Formats: sequence, structure tokens, C-alpha cells
Amino acid sequence: MIAISFDHARNVIIRGGQNDICREIPCISRVPTGIGGLDTLIQGGFPRSSLILLAGHPGSGKTAMAGQFLYSGATQKEKGVYVSFAEGRKPFLEFMNALGIDLATQEQLGNIKILDMVTVKEEGLSTVLEQVLGAIQSLKAQRLVIDSFSAMGQAFTREIEARIMLHTILSKIVRGMGCTTILTCEIPWGSERVGMGIEEFIADGIILVTSFVENFSIKRRLIIVKLRGTDHSVQYHDLILSSRGVKVVPVPSMK
Ligand SMILES: Nc1ncnc2c1ncn2[C@@H]1O[C@H](COP(=O)(O)OP(=O)(O)O)[C@@H](O)[C@H]1O
Ligand SMILES: [Mg+2]
Repeated sequence: MIAISFDHARNVIIRGGQNDICREIPCISRVPTGIGGLDTLIQGGFPRSSLILLAGHPGSGKTAMAGQFLYSGATQKEKGVYVSFAEGRKPFLEFMNALGIDLATQEQLGNIKILDMVTVKEEGLSTVLEQVLGAIQSLKAQRLVIDSFSAMGQAFTREIEARIMLHTILSKIVRGMGCTTILTCEIPWGSERVGMGIEEFIADGIILVTSFVENFSIKRRLIIVKLRGTDHSVQYHDLILSSRGVKVVPVPSMK
């Protein structure tokens, strides 16, 4: 596979025909997400060195998807850093384990690093940035997850700090260090707004996940709203969480 810059790649949009399952285009370097059923909807994976916003309601599956993305990288020689602003290290690892995703072993093997920022965030922007950049450098990580960007933004006292953080992530980490990055973003119930009004414009990709009650049970659904340089699916898909991981399948009525 020939790796070309993402800036160039985003201009190479080749239509994949009428089918919702898109063709893989060999000239764009892709990072497979490892989320079952998702990669075929996005021409093989996220464009390398892209910034992806994974936005959705509470419990819609954002952390599960982000964990699967890191696990998939870790088992394929792409190390990753998980930065947690909302829940601690232990509950995160337990949750992943319940999904059949053994991130604890990958951490012991040195393939991922979990940064628990639940308390550190109070020390401010420079401490957070220093730790995130340090972890990526020491691990030579190629994948990064910040979970959640919303919780991180709330921790800073001034909005400008969240903006600085976002621009540093984009310029230094994504473009500079070549880290393919997922920022999760909480959408409160009843709100249509994706982010704080900045990250959705900067992001190379936006994936929306939603959960709702249908036939007396919780359903989760996903749609790819934007993915630069990619002829992606434009339909809703079901998102299934189970003890065998995370997968994306066509909505039964649309098969
Ligand atoms: N082993 C499991 N099998 C199926 N669903 C699970 C499992 N463990 C957790 N869940 C579901 O995942 C939800 C949490 O998903 P999560 O990825 O944390 O959502 P978000 O990060 O969007 O808030 C829980 O509310 C629960 O419904
Ligand atoms: Mg979460």
C-alpha cells in the first residue's frame, strides 16, 4: 500500500458506485478500526493521521468503540494511548473486559497506555498536554483516544484552554506525530448540538451514535456524517455491543 499525505488523499475521492458498501481504494493509507462491519463502510478504515469525532448520547457505545479501536491497533503493532477524563482506569478496563476486549493484557505488554486524567485535569492544560504528548512519544503511539473531549473541556476553567488543546491535538499529535485520533463527544439528551462549536469543523470525520428504545429494548444506531477523502456509507446502521465486542450491522428493515 502506498502511503500518501492525508491532505492529498482527501482530494482523491473516487465514487464507489450505488452500493452502500464502499470499495476499498488502494492509494489512500487507511487505519482499520477493528470495529466489525465498520471498515467496509469507510473504504477500509479511517484515513491515516485523521481526527475523528465520535459523538453521541450517554450509553450509545462511544467508549466501547474507542476501546475496540485501540485494541485492534495494539494487536496489529499500532500502539495507542487512551486518555480518560470521565471514568477511572479500573472501571474502564472492567467494562472493556465485559465486552471481551482484553485491554489489560495489551497494557501489560506495553502496547497501550491508559492515562487516567480524572484528577490530573484539575492541574490545568499544560499538565494534561505534557502527559499526553509524553505518553505518545515514549510509546511511539500511532493511535490516540480522548474520552471524552466534552469532559476535558468542562474541566478547564476557560473556554480558550479547550481551544488550545484542540489545536495542539490537531497540529502536534494528529498532523505532526501522525497519530490517528478519536475524540469522543457527549451529546446530552434532548440536544442536537454535536460539540462546543469548534471541534466539528476541525474534525476530518464525524460519526454520530444514538440510542433509543424500540420494542421495549435499547437499540443503538450509527451514521457516518462526514469523513474527508472517503466515499462512505450515508445510511444508519445498527451498533451491537456484546461480550464478543462491538459490531456494526445493517438496519434489518434496510437489508
Ligand atoms: N458486555 C456487554 N454487553 C452488551 N452491552 C454492554 C456490555 N457492557 C456494557 N454494555 C452496554 O454499554 C453501555 C455503555 O456503553 P459506552 O460505550 O460506555 O457508552 P458511551 O461511552 O457512549 O456513554 C452500557 O450502558 C450497557 O448498556
Ligand atoms: Mg463513554
